[in-house]
Amino acid sequence: MKPLEIAKDIYWVGAVDWNIRDMHGYLTPHGTTYNAFLIVDEKIALIDTTKKGFVDELLHSISQIVEPRKIDCVISNHTEMDHSGGLPRVMHRIGEDKPLYCSKMGLKNLPRHFRQRWNYQPVDDGGELSLGKKTLSFMETRMLHWPASMFTYVKEDRLLFSSDAFGQHYASLERFDDQVGDAIMPHAAKYFANILLLYAPLVLKLVEKVQKLGLVFDMICPDHGIMWRQDPAKIINAYVEWSTQKPKRKAVVAYDTMWHSTEKMAEAIVAGLGEEGVDTRPMHLRACHRSDVMTEVLDAGAVVVGSPTLNNGLFPTVSDFLSYMKGLKPKNKIGAAFGSYGWSGEAVKMINKELEAMKFELVDPGLKIQYVPDDKGIEASYELGKKIAKALPS
Ligand code: FEO
Repeated sequence: MKPLEIAKDIYWVGAVDWNIRDMHGYLTPHGTTYNAFLIVDEKIALIDTTKKGFVDELLHSISQIVEPRKIDCVISNHTEMDHSGGLPRVMHRIGEDKPLYCSKMGLKNLPRHFRQRWNYQPVDDGGELSLGKKTLSFMETRMLHWPASMFTYVKEDRLLFSSDAFGQHYASLERFDDQVGDAIMPHAAKYFANILLLYAPLVLKLVEKVQKLGLVFDMICPDHGIMWRQDPAKIINAYVEWSTQKPKRKAVVAYDTMWHSTEKMAEAIVAGLGEEGVDTRPMHLRACHRSDVMTEVLDAGAVVVGSPTLNNGLFPTVSDFLSYMKGLKPKNKIGAAFGSYGWSGEAVKMINKELEAMKFELVDPGLKIQYVPDDKGIEASYELGKKIAKALPS
């Protein structure tokens, strides 16, 4: 892609990854971008790099603006390899002795990734670096979403380089929110649900800190996807809403099935929920990717999980989903379990245990039916759906 001037003397020099479909277990059907930025001032600074395989594109983009050796310093906002993987070639090209600014945790973690003795320059939270006309201000954002994460703010342009925060896995020719419109929001929600949800309390603290500091943003530039210039407040407000995790009258029914018995139960539960006016998402775990299920879980008040008992345990996709959801620490949910079994029937108990470990409020001891559900079993499943609906906020 060609570089793009996004503000005076500030350029997007990133790369578009049209073909990635799996980002460490997160389904990315729309690809992604690795956003990197060049600030051309009295000193020239590069903000982040790209994934290793895209560094040719990065250097080519930079070369269309300045000879890369003229870069005076690099700012590493995030150590994860999709933004730092290009560092070895970039540092080699611009000069290994050039300052590499990072957070204090970056000072610990960058060498553990690259085993290089670069000229690391750790910065303080609130520390500043003058490039000439422009001043960079650094904000530590530890655990949003890695220990070394930080934001870089260009004071004169009121422009925030927000690392992974406010990003989306979305490859496009467009670079800005006003070019994509509201269609970008589901991508931003999926990103939040799968990358940042477990750090929701830190997001709320950060927003509070930013408000106290009186920072204003004319543009927010995340490391993935489009940049927010038309309405940066929109994505901040969305992050506050998602972090608050106020449960909606919505239910996710996530399940797998061996011989369609658990599926029949799921369908009856869905019908019961629907009868009570609940926005219900039935999600077969071999038809829906775990990252898409989590996106629906984000604002759901209820998560209902079904599994047949297989080899005295959970069906593997259900284990996978429960483990994934547990790691993301969703809050304020009610839950219930169901499943068909043949002879031992441990699955429902095991789901209950996992949901309780996630601090979900169980609205029912769980429903298990031997082999194929009869009319009575279908009715019991339907009634379970209605019971869950009644426990949801109206
Ligand atoms: Fe986009 Fe945490 O890396």
